[in-house]
Amino acid sequence: MCLAEQPPSFEDDVMGAIAERLGSRESIDGYELDALTVGRRITYDVQANWKLIIENFMECYHCATIHPELTEVLPEFADGYAAQFFVGHGAEFGADVQGFTVDGGEGFDKLPGVDEDHDRRYYAITVRPTVFVNLVPDHVIFHRMFPVSESRTIVECDWLYTREVVESGKDVSRSVELFHRVNEQDFEACERTQPAMSSRAYAHGGVLVPSEHHIGEFHHWLTQRLAD
Ligand SMILES: [Fe+2]
Repeated sequence: MCLAEQPPSFEDDVMGAIAERLGSRESIDGYELDALTVGRRITYDVQANWKLIIENFMECYHCATIHPELTEVLPEFADGYAAQFFVGHGAEFGADVQGFTVDGGEGFDKLPGVDEDHDRRYYAITVRPTVFVNLVPDHVIFHRMFPVSESRTIVECDWLYTREVVESGKDVSRSVELFHRVNEQDFEACERTQPAMSSRAYAHGGVLVPSEHHIGEFHHWLTQRLAD
């Protein structure tokens, strides 16, 4: 929800971010987000600035060291692959992985509209400023951030499933547990990074390497808006 008198355009900001990441606006249609419902909601109170949470979400060289369960399911993340660098690329499930669950065991039926190209793949999208969308074949994980202070952010994370899965009372716990652990691991890393954010060495956003060009774009986007 945006309280601005002239809210930004949904088409430009939300669908634009999706097209920028997935290669086309239509790529998200198959997940039929409007037909999904909340199977689990977990709220995290993170002692870190919201921008750190965004930067963490946009890179993956930390994945090999702090996300053991996620890198089992998505082996390419163990190589430090920058998750949101390549347009249209979704990280592929490991060969013996059955589903996007905490132990790689079976998940639920693939969402009806998800095609072969998107099956067995994970896509992460950052919708600036404060939303993350994570797409996997059988559910969608949706983060919203609520900045409270310069060093505290409330993150509300929803796991979205088909109505059939939720209403039939199927056990979503192994499915939820994977990204819940990823969230806890990421937010702890952000909290450990937060104290150094007031260093003068970080005053201009620190040093970025070429594979972080998309994080550089986020810095640019933010400083432009602050200037406006
Ligand atoms: Fe992470």
